[in-house]
Amino acid sequence: MAPAIAVGGGDMPVFEGRITVYVVACVIIAAFGGLMFGYDIGISGGVTAMDDFLERFFPRVYEKKKHAHEDNYCKYDNQFLQLFTSCLYLAALIASFVASRVCSKQGRRPTMQIASFFFLVGVVLTSAAFHISMLILGRLALGIGVGFANQAVPLFLSELAPAKIRGALNISFQLFITIGIFIANMVNYAMSNVHPYGWRLSLAIAGVPALFLCVGSMSICETPTSLIERGRLEEGRVVLQRIRGVANVDNEFDSIVHACEMANQVTKPFSKLMKRSSRPPLVIAILLQVFQQFTGINAIMFYAPVLFQTVGFGSEASLLSAVITGLVNVFSTLVSVYAVDKAGRRALLLEAVVQMFITQMEAIIVVVLVCVFVMGFAWSWGPLGWLIPSETFPLETRTAGFAFAVSTNMLFTFLVAQAFLSMLCNMKAGIFFFFAAWIVVMGLFAMFLLPETKGVPVDAVTERVWKQHWFWKRFMDEEDVKPAAKAPSGIHPHLT
Ligand code: BGC
Repeated sequence: MAPAIAVGGGDMPVFEGRITVYVVACVIIAAFGGLMFGYDIGISGGVTAMDDFLERFFPRVYEKKKHAHEDNYCKYDNQFLQLFTSCLYLAALIASFVASRVCSKQGRRPTMQIASFFFLVGVVLTSAAFHISMLILGRLALGIGVGFANQAVPLFLSELAPAKIRGALNISFQLFITIGIFIANMVNYAMSNVHPYGWRLSLAIAGVPALFLCVGSMSICETPTSLIERGRLEEGRVVLQRIRGVANVDNEFDSIVHACEMANQVTKPFSKLMKRSSRPPLVIAILLQVFQQFTGINAIMFYAPVLFQTVGFGSEASLLSAVITGLVNVFSTLVSVYAVDKAGRRALLLEAVVQMFITQMEAIIVVVLVCVFVMGFAWSWGPLGWLIPSETFPLETRTAGFAFAVSTNMLFTFLVAQAFLSMLCNMKAGIFFFFAAWIVVMGLFAMFLLPETKGVPVDAVTERVWKQHWFWKRFMDEEDVKPAAKAPSGIHPHLT
């Protein structure tokens, strides 16, 4: 059994509990939602670089590619080809708002089950596609799956985790995203020599994690917060005892009940979200996602093989380079798992801004720089883009607010996916200056506007963070904000 931990510290409430095997199992199963997302991110770049696939669905791109030189920046510039990658994110964007309702009315677990259903439908349609419409329909179904999974999984993880290791447990979502991308990179590499149906196999293999999520999500628990919020108090207590591995969970239980009582006074979470007092977490959630995408990460994740070919690598070397960056992504995310609850969120974000800025400015020793860039992203703006919005809304606006985070992410992912190849064609290497400029902006944002949330219990964030922040506190007018869950209100030096 893992050692008992007192969640909190200093004047924070102490919640009893251990890190139980059961929690770890639930975390791993839920994180498979991330693996599906990652696999879908990584697979499309490789598939769209395969000749068999292009010849069948995008004959004009295929012709153009055949007659292009290795370093032709425009050979893949085709709106339909980009739509194959990007339509998934449009579907996810819309689905995340439906998912937010399901998530609060039915719970986090059913939301994940719905996600796995759409994932399975999407895998069947894409891998069996004989017409482009079937292919796009399949990508849309996968997108709905992503919308549901990305809504439920980070919230599930943040609510299940004890505050002290919430960052690390939540980042298992991102860790699985990166594992998914990495597996997709390897599969693409292996399938590039399998003719004529390597692309079908690449797309079909996504069925494995989808099935795992489907079966796994039947056996995991609902979060205590979601049960208690929906009036199932005793079940909530039993689950809390089970996940904390101790009989006495009174403090934490009371704190959740208190947060739920307040949340239940709010009948229209989306209108509450539009109120002034919701501005701080909402603005932060949205900006984190905009910035996460404007780092330029997906220019690399989606199109790494294409990008490496463009700068002169042969097609085999390009796919191999994508595998290498995929591996760097996974290992650097582990750094974040380790550091997020020690160094804190802000330190990681700020360090990475410097690292990513320098690498975007120099596109010469491409693979090395791409790896250093990916490292920076993988321990900061990648995982924290999902972590921070899942831990900074009060319960009454948590699912609604998080839906904004998911949908903003999807919207900007869509924009990058749709525009990148055309931008590369028009701006050539100048595109990296575009992303570098954004990295400067996000550095200023993290420096001045982003509060630290390390170690603060989820349900005490309003009192401890927003009300103490030099800028955001002006939004927290008293009549709108009720006291936070049983949390003594002391200021922590690292919060301001
Ligand atoms: C982002 C994805 C990105 C991935 C890379 C995620 O946090 O949302 O868009 O492809 O990280 O690891």
